[in-house]
Amino acid sequence: MDRLLQSRWDNAESYQAAWHRRSHDMLALFDSSVPDAQEASFAEYGCGPDAPFATSVAASGPRTVRTYDRKRWHADCGLVDFNTGATKEMPKTDVGVLSGVLEYLDDVPATLALLGQHHRFGLFSYACWTETSGSAGISALDHRCHRGGWHNHYTLPQIAEIASSVGVILRVGESLGQVLLAVSYVMRTDHL
Ligand SMILES: C[S@@+](CC[C@H](N)C(=O)[O-])C[C@H]1O[C@@H](n2cnc3c(N)ncnc32)[C@H](O)[C@@H]1O
Repeated sequence: MDRLLQSRWDNAESYQAAWHRRSHDMLALFDSSVPDAQEASFAEYGCGPDAPFATSVAASGPRTVRTYDRKRWHADCGLVDFNTGATKEMPKTDVGVLSGVLEYLDDVPATLALLGQHHRFGLFSYACWTETSGSAGISALDHRCHRGGWHNHYTLPQIAEIASSVGVILRVGESLGQVLLAVSYVMRTDHL
């Protein structure tokens, strides 16, 4: 089953144009969070064939953005897989972006911490676990695992706790029913 779910993201047909809205909203959240946002450089991980976040950045003005995924979708797409540890192509940019990606990762806390070694800010989306018990909860969990292929099931407080353990949450938004988190890695004084 896991091999089937992995290969899903090798097919351009698996990606939905509707998800571009989330990247648009994430960039708007970042721009409203950080005073020097217009000078920021970005790295979009798990960009897929359309790189929706990079597209939003390009449409917003002259800011640089680099794209990465488990598959080299185009010549400028670097290879990064957070589950296998293939992360040596990760660049140093101001912002590391994970839009629709955290759900597929084996170790979310370690990945968010890793981004803090490469970026001043993190910009994340996450589809939170909401049902906790009873038949509705069981059905929803099966849907997350079997249909979604998601590897983790955090509630809103839990994903906020993980983000707060690696940085400071600057702003919180919502898009496509998912939470958006803009995180500063450099504001935590215990890292100094
Ligand atoms: C739901 S798609 C999101 C695509 C795009 N970011 C968007 O918002 O439309 C999930 C993406 O996460 C990527 N992904 C899944 N597992 C990954 C991993 N272990 N490391 C890096 N990217 C991964 C997939 O290749 C795919 O591009």
